[in-house]
Amino acid sequence: MAGVAFKNVSKIFGKDVKAVNDLNLEIRDKEFMVLVGPSGCGKTTALRMIAGLEEASLGDIMIGDVRVNDVPPKDRDIAMVFQNYALYPHMNVYDNIAFGLRLRELGGFFWQITHAAEAKKIKQDIDSRVREVARMLDIEKYLARRPKELSGGQRQRVALARAIVRKPKVFLMDEPLSNLDAKLRVQTRAELIRLHRDLGITTMYVTHDQVEAMTMGQRMAIMRDGVLQQCDEPEKVYAYPANKFVAGFIGSPPMNFIEATISADGTVGNDDFRLPIPEGNPAKGMAGTGVWLGVRPEEIFDAAIPSGVTPTAANTIKALVDVMEPLGHEYVTYLKIGNTSMVASIDKDTKIRMGEVGTFCLNIDRVHIFDKETEVAIR
Ligand SMILES: Nc1ncnc2c1ncn2[C@@H]1O[C@H](COP(=O)(O)OP(=O)(O)OP(=O)(O)O)[C@@H](O)[C@H]1O
Ligand SMILES: [Mg+2]
Repeated sequence: MAGVAFKNVSKIFGKDVKAVNDLNLEIRDKEFMVLVGPSGCGKTTALRMIAGLEEASLGDIMIGDVRVNDVPPKDRDIAMVFQNYALYPHMNVYDNIAFGLRLRELGGFFWQITHAAEAKKIKQDIDSRVREVARMLDIEKYLARRPKELSGGQRQRVALARAIVRKPKVFLMDEPLSNLDAKLRVQTRAELIRLHRDLGITTMYVTHDQVEAMTMGQRMAIMRDGVLQQCDEPEKVYAYPANKFVAGFIGSPPMNFIEATISADGTVGNDDFRLPIPEGNPAKGMAGTGVWLGVRPEEIFDAAIPSGVTPTAANTIKALVDVMEPLGHEYVTYLKIGNTSMVASIDKDTKIRMGEVGTFCLNIDRVHIFDKETEVAIR
């Protein structure tokens, strides 16, 4: 078992493509870390550097206490699951899972003849490991089938089994669920969480899906243009995003951002509405400053429906309801307050209808304020 760390790691392709820019990140021993960010932000490159498939241009890659920059991939004791896993089409499921183990642990044909007893023991050990992993992933029934006789989800599980069976020090997964349909993705997501809980193998999991990052990661690291933006537990990232980018990336529908100013009376807002700045927030003392006001859709409530927020003069606004999209448990509601637009997630029991003016209250303790220029959170 071992943790993994990036120490001031950069990867520069060609002359000037900085795919990863001075990355400092530690994945603790036995931790499930999710690396998330939009396409092209450097996730795969970071993962490939741990695996040794890509050389770091600068900095140190650590596995446990060992700097592995110069250790060849096969000696790093890592298993990687890619988005486009390739199973051997001519082998059945059993052999697909066992193949790597046989290659690594058994000698050649003549060795097996001259060391018959030893070879037999290794084969038995491989057999019980293959069956154990197949049972864990619920593919025991398919061990004799070829990959083409399996569904996409079953094939995905075979690819996972092949990686797990090696019991590596570190697991690297690059969007392993992306070619599964929505239902299977949710199911396999839960399986992976359970597997991690049972095996406790240090895991770095890459995705561009913020829901996957939120639900799977013990911690999550958010990258943008090769630069790490924030690394923390999902709840903390959601509640205290470090900057406007992270705030907009995590959460669905995304956070509303409103161009606003700070007033001497301790409020933040624009000509359409103003809200009191939460107690203790340094923005209170920054009168005249231009900022971004961030409001999550789920922190806006129909004032007529009891919620955790008591409507007061300070936290209540009137808004024209432009569009309402029913999702069953709530309405995604598009509001207009003068020239300001906001999206709100409104309880299914609301009596407010499209085209009406409704009264809404906001959880002002949960509004976010970001510096206009640097976009860094002020709190
Ligand atoms: N071999 C390469 N040569 C030059 N540029 C590369 C190479 N590999 C990746 N890049 C560039 O490095 C950046 C990061 O790529 P990377 O594959 O790490 O992104 P990613 O976050 O995994 O994106 P995605 O979500 O689309 O998989 C991109 O701008 C990409 O074009
Ligand atoms: Mg990628």
